[in-house]
Amino acid sequence: MNIRCPNSSDYKVIAELNRLTFEGENEAQLVEYVRHSDRYIPELELVADLDGTVVGHILFSYIDLVGQEHLQVLGLAPIAVLPGFQRRGIGSLLVRMGLKAAEAREELMVIVLGHPQFYSRFGFEPTVAYGIESPFPVPNEVFMVKLLKNYQGAYRGKVVYPPAFNQV
Ligand SMILES: CC(C)(COP(=O)(O)OP(=O)(O)OC[C@H]1O[C@@H](n2cnc3c(N)ncnc32)[C@H](O)[C@@H]1OP(=O)(O)O)[C@@H](O)C(=O)NCCC(=O)NCCS
Repeated sequence: MNIRCPNSSDYKVIAELNRLTFEGENEAQLVEYVRHSDRYIPELELVADLDGTVVGHILFSYIDLVGQEHLQVLGLAPIAVLPGFQRRGIGSLLVRMGLKAAEAREELMVIVLGHPQFYSRFGFEPTVAYGIESPFPVPNEVFMVKLLKNYQGAYRGKVVYPPAFNQV
C-alpha cells in the first residue's frame, strides 16, 4: 500500500471513488471546489494506491476558527475508502499519514465531523472541551478536534466553513 499525493491524472479516479463511496456527487464536488480555492494544500491531499489502483482518498484543507483571533485551521473532509476495501486499515493509514503531514507543516489543529468510534483512536476529541463551537447543530460527540503539537494556549471560537462546503 502506497500512500502518496495525487497528481492531476488521478483526479477522475478520485471523483469516481467519492461518488461510489458516498453514493452521490457532493463529496466529489467538494474536492473539486476545494482544489480550485485558496484553501487547498497540495501536500494534505493523499491517496491510498494499491498496486496502481487508487482505493482510498483523504483531503485536509483550511477552514476558519473565528473568536478573539481569526485562525486558519485544518478541516478533514472528505475521507473515503472504496466499499470493497473498507475495514482493512486503509482509512486509518490515510488519517495517520495526513496527521503526520499536518504536523510537519506545524498546523494547529484538525477539525472533523464524523464517527467518534473511528476518529477517537487518532486522538480526536469533542471540540466542546476546548470551547470550539460547531457552525451547525450537531451532537457534541460528532464534532471533533485533534490538537497538533503546535497548539498552544486556548483558541476558542466558532468554526466557519468556506463556501466550497456549502452543499455538503
Ligand atoms: C470511514 C472510512 C473512511 C474508514 O476507512 P476504513 O479503511 O474502513 O477504516 P479502517 O479499516 O482503518 O478502520 C476501521 C474502523 O473504523 C471504524 N469504522 C469504519 N467505518 C465506520 C462507520 N461507518 N461507523 C462507525 N465506525 C466505523 C470501525 O470501528 C472499524 O474498526 P474495526 O475494524 O475494529 O471494527 C470508510 O469506512 C469509508 O469510506 N466509509 C464511507 C464514507 C464515510 O463514512 N466517510 C467518513 C465520513 S466522516
